Amino acid sequence: MSFLEMLDVLNEGLINKGDEPVVFDHDCREGICGSCSLQINGEPHGPDRLVTTCQLHMRMFKDGDTIVIEPFRAKAFPVIKDLVVDRSSFDRIQQAGGFISVNTSGNTIDANAIPINKHDADESFEAATCIGCGACVAACKNASAMLFTSAKVSQFALLPQGRVEATERVLNMVAQMDKEGFGNCTNTGACEIECPKGISLENIARMNREYLSASLKG
Ligand code: SF4
Ligand code: FES
Repeated sequence: MSFLEMLDVLNEGLINKGDEPVVFDHDCREGICGSCSLQINGEPHGPDRLVTTCQLHMRMFKDGDTIVIEPFRAKAFPVIKDLVVDRSSFDRIQQAGGFISVNTSGNTIDANAIPINKHDADESFEAATCIGCGACVAACKNASAMLFTSAKVSQFALLPQGRVEATERVLNMVAQMDKEGFGNCTNTGACEIECPKGISLENIARMNREYLSASLKG
């Protein structure tokens, strides 16, 4: 049984007794959407590595174990109800620069017409696998969103298509991150360990370099 199926069973029992079910977030249940964000026994997405809560299985626990489930804790993720937090602060960081502008007037250049070396393409793809779950924030003692934001900056910074707006992208996304109330990075590295997608701390280093060079240009 998966962890979310266990919560379904719990809620079925509560509803049958006439009690309120425990509210929790989920959607794809296959590690793609990033909604199923739970703090399980003190760890975002629970004790397993490189999996989301929906991919966590009850075989990771022993019979009779007490399991403590909490919502992700961060000022920038206010609790809506029970185990559901509002992660729209991530959406606003994305909206501040996580896009490229493409000419769609009929003169659009085929993406494959621009050669990109394999190493950069792979690194960009790795960064793009961030699902915006927020585990990095929940794992961080400073509730920093640096791993998330740096993944979103990196996926564009490594591609020629992303260089056009690179300066304003990194400045605007970092400004929005600070405005939302996320804390600073102190290189603890808990984010990388708890990230279900294995997003590397190298992305933070890359974002810092992008930010420095953008600030000098500004
Ligand atoms: S960097 Fe990892 S932990 Fe943070 S939001 Fe993206 S996928 Fe989730
Ligand atoms: S429900 Fe979509 S990642 Fe878990």
